Parts: sequence; C-alpha cells; structure tokens
Amino acid sequence: AAFTMDDFTRVVVTDKQIGARLDELAVKIRADYAGKDLLLVGVLKGAVMVMADLARRLPPYVQMDWMAVSSYGSGTRSSGVVRILKDLDADLTGRHVLIVEDIIDTGVTLSWLLGNLRSRGAESVEVAALLRKPDAIQVDIDVKYIGFDIPNEFVVGYGLDWAEKYRTLPFVAILKPSVYAEG
Ligand code: PRP
Ligand code: MN
Ligand code: MG
Repeated sequence: AAFTMDDFTRVVVTDKQIGARLDELAVKIRADYAGKDLLLVGVLKGAVMVMADLARRLPPYVQMDWMAVSSYGSGTRSSGVVRILKDLDADLTGRHVLIVEDIIDTGVTLSWLLGNLRSRGAESVEVAALLRKPDAIQVDIDVKYIGFDIPNEFVVGYGLDWAEKYRTLPFVAILKPSVYAEG
C-alpha cells in the first residue's frame, strides 16, 4: 500500500480486530432481526468500509441505502451543523432501520439523524457504530451495537478522513498533530 506509518502516532484498532468484532456484531444483529426485513442505512462517506464489511456478514436479503450528511467539512472539529448532502432513496414507512456509522464523536450527527429518520414512520431505528469516543460525547445517544470505545484523539482510516485523505487505510490510527497542523 502506498502510505507511510510516519503519519500516525499509533494504530488504535487493527484490521484483524475490526473483522473479529464485526463477526460478533453480525451474530447479534442476525439474531435480533431474525425473520425481519432489515434496511441498513450507511452514512456517507465515513461508513463505507464498515457498511461493506458488516453487510457481507448478514443475510443477502438485507438491504442497503445511503445518506450523506456532513458536520465536519475539512476541519478536525465538529461544526455542530448537520447538512443533508444526499437523502435516502428508500421510503422508511414500516421498515426496520439500522443506521451504520463509522464513529460517534460528539454524537451531534447521529442524534440529529436518529431524530430525522424516526420522524419518517419506520417501525424501528437503531444504531450500529464501529467506534465511539466516550470522552468526546456531548449528546446522549442510545446505541445498540458498538464496536470499540477509543481515546479522544483525532483518528483516521477505515472510512475516517482528514480532509478526505486516509479513508482507504485498512486500520484505524491516531493522526500525528504535525500532519494536520501543516499548511
Ligand atoms: C464524521 C464521522 C461521523 C461524524 C461523527 O463524519 O464519519 O459521521 O463525523 O462526529 P459527531 O459525533 O461529532 O457528529 P463527517 O461529517 O466528517 O463526514 P464524512 O463521513 O463524509 O467524513
Ligand atoms: Mn461521517
Ligand atoms: Mg469526515
């Protein structure tokens, strides 16, 4: 792969750990939604990796849809303002919806999204997030499936970006402050 580890302080979650945790979460999700018609809603762009890897562990009649919202722009801090950049194609009326997210940082994005999707007549709306920063939470959210609690550091990889870069890394790592302090 064309990247150097010099950009990172350390790896927080390896690709092996991600795969093993997704195996466990998929077992729970399969049991909880047995006999139900499940719609996964991935939050672009950060959730693309976890959506692809989680969805592959679920039955083939599970459906995927996508929403694009953004609260970060190109910075490293949440702006607190959530914008819809792309709405869902699916009608949520009567559906069992599982929002798939890469990370809960302040919780602002998910809190807003939960309210938005719950107002669309879904039968249920739950959340699966790969990462959560307990020390950064500003809004309490009821999260049914969580991968890993991580320290309150700026992390990239496995969907998470800094200025659209590093999303393609197979692991999650802490970005060196010197990288985003430049320029
Ligand atoms: C990031 C991340 C989550 C959100 C979490 O998305 O992917 O969606 O921020 O932060 P919060 O809990 O403080 O709201 P971002 O807005 O950067 O868009 P992206 O997914 O396209 O990178
Ligand atoms: Mn995101
Ligand atoms: Mg981002």
